[in-house]
Amino acid sequence: MNYAEALSKLQKYNQEHLLKFYEKLDLEKQKELLDQIETLNLEQIEELYESIKTPKKNKETKVEPIEYIDKEKLTEEEKEKYIKIGNEILSSGKVAAVTMAGGQGTRLGHNGPKGTFDLGLDSHKSLFEIICDTFKEVQVETNCTIPWYVMTSEENNEETEQFFEKNNFFDYPKEKVTFFKQGKYPMIDVNGKILLDTNGLIKEAADGHGGVYIAMLKNGILEDMKNKGIKWIIVGGVDNVLVKMFDPLFIGLYIEQGFPAASKSVVKKYPEEKVGVFCKKDGRPSIIEYTELSDEMAHEVDENGELKYGESNIIVHIFELETMEKISKNILPYHPAFKKANYMDENGNAVISQEPNAYKFEAFIFDAFEQLENMTIFRVKREEEFAPVKNADEKGVDCPKTARELYIKYHNSYEV
Ligand code: UD1
Repeated sequence: MNYAEALSKLQKYNQEHLLKFYEKLDLEKQKELLDQIETLNLEQIEELYESIKTPKKNKETKVEPIEYIDKEKLTEEEKEKYIKIGNEILSSGKVAAVTMAGGQGTRLGHNGPKGTFDLGLDSHKSLFEIICDTFKEVQVETNCTIPWYVMTSEENNEETEQFFEKNNFFDYPKEKVTFFKQGKYPMIDVNGKILLDTNGLIKEAADGHGGVYIAMLKNGILEDMKNKGIKWIIVGGVDNVLVKMFDPLFIGLYIEQGFPAASKSVVKKYPEEKVGVFCKKDGRPSIIEYTELSDEMAHEVDENGELKYGESNIIVHIFELETMEKISKNILPYHPAFKKANYMDENGNAVISQEPNAYKFEAFIFDAFEQLENMTIFRVKREEEFAPVKNADEKGVDCPKTARELYIKYHNSYEV
């Protein structure tokens, strides 16, 4: 795309300010800016801005609780059967795992990729190393080395790769670890104008973990997995220090149920807990994020006094490769978030913002669940599988201190 074409594209949507400082950029940056403009979906950006200004009333959606299988209620025979199937799958060489690690540890107050955070154990293991331990356990139990794909973002990729190198990949075979970057999406100001960054290029932010599907397609990860004979992909987050992605019981149950995907859940601790909850929307599996759950729904209880919307997302999902591939070709909705963003103002001055001033747009991995007819939801025990590290210790919840205590308690009681 040349300058004239870029200008004409931008003018149609009143975004031509993006070229105001074009002449001041060096040749390389000029080309980069034109490339950015070429990929802009201005119609979508305009629609997103409109939806913030005048939120559309959603069409009437029927929301219901979701069916789940409770680990506690399985019989010994069932458990045995599923574990056998799960172990066969884990040993088959057809399983790969993705860790979504594109987020920064901002809320945690950690300066760097969240996975590099030291939990404060005597061993000083980072969140990445704690996850790696689970890969090593499968290696010991099944003799199979699971390929590990780490999704980073533009902001933290270099630091993440360096961290793995510096720590000798936590003694996991380096050739089994692949990094890939999630995508980015332009940020806009409160008037719907796309922001220029302080370097004169378009200001972009990570596109949310829903970007995982398209990033796996575009970066050739799905292709690479296919070439390796992978059939199932387990996806996890980076910040749960009790995460169990390679759980034969879960995998066996999922295979037996025959759905295209599965997720683990735990019971919500209290109605206001900051977790997404599983539900069905118009008969399809879905998650309502805590930011979008009404107070009334958060408190609704069933005839047993259990929260109706209490199956909480702990970010452990399994997909068939084919399912991920299908999803990667569909567009997911974007959720706006109002954030602090440094930018270049209309006079070409860099502005460092202390307050939220711009919208970033994030897709959520679980918005794709609605594309599936059904999925397995497996309720596991919270004390065995969920210890999130989200906030700094001052907050007192979901912080390093609470996660460390849960981690130590679990490992002391189950591994002696
Ligand atoms: C998340 C879930 C919530 C769940 C809770 C459990 C979302 C939107 N919400 O909340 O349903 O109950 O965890 O702890 O996911 N990430 C990326 N790229 C991004 C953004 C995030 O890779 O652009 C990764 C993070 O590194 C992390 C995971 O996704 O591993 C979760 O993201 P985060 O933003 O921390 O979500 P929460 O609000 O904590």
